[in-house]
Amino acid sequence: MKIKIKHPAKTTWPLVIIPMMPRDLASANFKNFSKKEDLPKKIISSFSAKKATCLLLAGSQTEQIILVGIGEDPTYKDILFVFRKFAVDHKKQLNTKLTLHLSFTSMAKNAQKITLLTAAAVNGLQLSTYDIGLYKTHDKIVHPLAKSTSTLTILVDKTFQNEVEDAALEGAAKGSTQLSIMDLVNAPGNKAIPEVLGQWAINSGKRFGYKTTVFSKKKITSTGLHALLAVNRGSEYMPAFVVMEYKPKNAGKKKLPKVGLVGKGVTFDTGGISIKGHQNMHYMKSDMGGAAAVLGTMELTAKLQLPVHLIGIVPATDNCVDATAIKPGDVINSYSGKTIEIIDTDAEGRLILADGLAYLNKKFNPEIMLDLATLTGSSVRTFGYQCGAAFSKNEQLIAQLTAAGDATGERIWPLPLWDDYQNHMDSDVADIKNFSGRPVAGAISAAKFLEFFTNKHPQWAHLDIAGVAFGDTGFSKQKSATGYGVGLLVEFLKNLV
Ligand code: BES
Ligand code: ZN
Ligand code: ZN
Repeated sequence: MKIKIKHPAKTTWPLVIIPMMPRDLASANFKNFSKKEDLPKKIISSFSAKKATCLLLAGSQTEQIILVGIGEDPTYKDILFVFRKFAVDHKKQLNTKLTLHLSFTSMAKNAQKITLLTAAAVNGLQLSTYDIGLYKTHDKIVHPLAKSTSTLTILVDKTFQNEVEDAALEGAAKGSTQLSIMDLVNAPGNKAIPEVLGQWAINSGKRFGYKTTVFSKKKITSTGLHALLAVNRGSEYMPAFVVMEYKPKNAGKKKLPKVGLVGKGVTFDTGGISIKGHQNMHYMKSDMGGAAAVLGTMELTAKLQLPVHLIGIVPATDNCVDATAIKPGDVINSYSGKTIEIIDTDAEGRLILADGLAYLNKKFNPEIMLDLATLTGSSVRTFGYQCGAAFSKNEQLIAQLTAAGDATGERIWPLPLWDDYQNHMDSDVADIKNFSGRPVAGAISAAKFLEFFTNKHPQWAHLDIAGVAFGDTGFSKQKSATGYGVGLLVEFLKNLV
């Protein structure tokens, strides 16, 4: 989607969308706006401007004006939803040229608000082009805004043209990265195999300027990533261990905050020998939502050239059933040297994350370590689909993540990491066990397991995103990828500097 910023001169534009809040209606002056219709009367009588309402004002071939309601004081998430829904619902009527007129809402009077409005609107328009029919061979209709010729013209008064341009470009950059990771999460376990995650990172790194190394099984073995290898034992596919590193092009000798991310890349989770029930098992193709968030964050950070030193790690494998698969009761080794008793092979995500975290910490020594994983059903039972569960002993880190989540609508909420829970994970035979065996506090004991492999890192947080990475988006018949994580993490990184 090409973006142009223009002054709202008295020309007619192809298909004009005008976002408005209810309170904007009283003061909106549409005199002389349309040549053919008496707009003020129409507006007053039939448009509320409530969230996700719309009204077609003038419908001639040369002039189409659509008012889109964004509700009173909308958040980023509200605006994104309104524009995504609008452009999905009107896919057949839209064409490649679209105009967004920002002069009729009072949000345009303030730099911060017009930035929010523009970024979220463009992000939403970009996401509206998402095509979930990855493997459909016919009846494909390409969304007009996804075509190479598509152009979005934004009309805005001189005062904030620069802000609007930056926000629009950022909204579009973010949207296109989200589209790409949504494909990964929606792709089934026989398509998005570990090698594919590695290749995604290699391609993205080449295109946007960050370094990617994908460890082969041989390298994973010689490095001693034993826990990743253990989960991979039941798999027909080779594991992958993706290591990505980004620094801005003009970094020079500037001191940059060093942040490390680890994402769970289980490309399909059958549960292993502790096999899951068959109902909804197909949704376990999404068990790499953490990996997708980390991959997307590497890409968007590089696109935006943020002033951070960012390391991303994605341990990837599926969790399958085979004669060679790990069994309950087995004791395995890990990269850290700590031994793990396997109680339940379905608690596999924490095993590969243990290796990812220990490797990240030892090799890169980052100031901040974050991991993201679709880790437990327990976190979904606790929070539903509204937020990820966050764990950290560092209150400032929790506060920074909460703020970034609130700003982007990709929210998190804390749960405790008290040491009183540590004995849930005590093993008689090994250094730790991978499942408490108790029907309570599952998300917390999983977090305590991970903490065991962080070497008491002072700025580590774990985000359990099982409820938010994949779900009912309103844009597909079944559950599908939400793109969660990229917005949250990039906002967090932007606020660091
Ligand atoms: N991938 C699942 C967690 C999950 C559940 C993600 C629902 C998304 C939606 C994870 O590997 C798992 O199976 N966790 C078990 C852990 C248990 C065996 C200790 C769980 O939460 O039931
Ligand atoms: Zn599992
Ligand atoms: Zn899993």
